[in-house]
Amino acid sequence: MARLFLFSFFASLLFSLCFAEIRYSDIRSDDRPIIPFDEFGFTHKGQLELNVSNIQLSNQNPDLDLSKVGFFLCTRDSWLHVLQQIEDGEITCALQSDLIKHVFTFNKLQKGQGKFSVLFPENDADQYTLVFANCLNSLKVSMDVNSAMYNLERNNNRDYLSAGKTILPRVYFLFSLIYFVLAGLWIHVLYKKRLTIFRIHFFMLAVVVLKALNLLCEAEDKSYIKRTGSAHGWDVLFYIFSFLKGITLFTLIVLIGTGWSFLKPYLQDKEKKVLMIVIPLQVVANMAQIVIDETGPYGQDWITWKQVFLLVDVVCCCAVLFPIVWSIKNLREAAKTDGKAAVNLMKLTLFRQYYIVVICYIYFTRVVVYALETITSYKYLWTSVLAGELATLAFYVFTGYKFKPEAHNPYFVIDDDEEEAAAEQLKLEDEFEL
Ligand SMILES: *[C@@H]1O[C@H](CO)[C@@H](O)[C@H](O)[C@H]1NC(C)=O
Repeated sequence: MARLFLFSFFASLLFSLCFAEIRYSDIRSDDRPIIPFDEFGFTHKGQLELNVSNIQLSNQNPDLDLSKVGFFLCTRDSWLHVLQQIEDGEITCALQSDLIKHVFTFNKLQKGQGKFSVLFPENDADQYTLVFANCLNSLKVSMDVNSAMYNLERNNNRDYLSAGKTILPRVYFLFSLIYFVLAGLWIHVLYKKRLTIFRIHFFMLAVVVLKALNLLCEAEDKSYIKRTGSAHGWDVLFYIFSFLKGITLFTLIVLIGTGWSFLKPYLQDKEKKVLMIVIPLQVVANMAQIVIDETGPYGQDWITWKQVFLLVDVVCCCAVLFPIVWSIKNLREAAKTDGKAAVNLMKLTLFRQYYIVVICYIYFTRVVVYALETITSYKYLWTSVLAGELATLAFYVFTGYKFKPEAHNPYFVIDDDEEEAAAEQLKLEDEFEL
């Protein structure tokens, strides 16, 4: 588990998730030498629109070399070379390197005007980061930055989604359809097996419906961003459903893990404690996710929130495993002491399988997806989303299939057996009396 934690931690540091869109950011009395803004994958017909206003410099000395202050575009590879050049002493400021693309340097600012606008065409397809560099010591900069990066489609419409992400709205929409179909199937199963269902089966239905709604909102959110550069309120709905989905999914994993309503109608104290840890942590995780998505990497707290999110997520993932382990332990002990070893072994196998599948699901959606995001070229970033969604789908299908309401459900076999055994016992006693 420690290795999992470390790996996913470093993987996420390498990768900074960010959907470029029209972005407003204000910089206040900032003396950071480098401020990264959005990252964006350009096609051969890309454009950057940059409007900066309310520029205020802490030092008004006219002798300042303002060519060392400005915006530029840079790929990740060339950034590493720029750092090397600075280390070798070839240049003293990133803006002097010939590996970057100058967008605007402050020596071009009109006297007395605290603003500028540029429309910068980017025809070399690649993934670029918009960066602000301030190589003057002790110069503090304040400004309002409005930036938009987009690619022009064949009919000259703008596409505000990065090159590797422009098909994401369709991917999300397809998956939301799949989940709606699954929800319909589940209702059908619940109706057909209405005599053998437990309360948890309705809970599972709620989880699937929330997942479908969450994906639908994400599809709408991304398709609005793609066309207009902003989400038009769909992001709010998306966050609400993500939040509900996150909480219900983790609760469901815990409930199934404890065997609630399958094995026993109540929760033990320690199992309730797990829920009391997981649910508030999910609230924190969702808040962190919103801050991360809405601010972009320019904010100073961005990295902090990213780490908070990761830590909380890892804690939640570990916490949900405990109830399953406890159930497995209880079942194993019961199998030893009880006469009904075979039946308990069946339950034990099911819970072991469930444990392994939960671990695989967590590992895949947290670590493998991050790794995929880091190693795939920017053009194929959607593949990591697809992989993550496929893994999630497989997890939902497995859970639904293994814990579906069924007369042949191992739990029912047990209950029937128990009842039969009890009935036989009673009969024997009756006969004895007679
Ligand atoms: C920048 O300014 C131009 C002209 O005022 C405007 O048309 C454009 O929408 C602005 N872009 C952004 C990203 O704010």
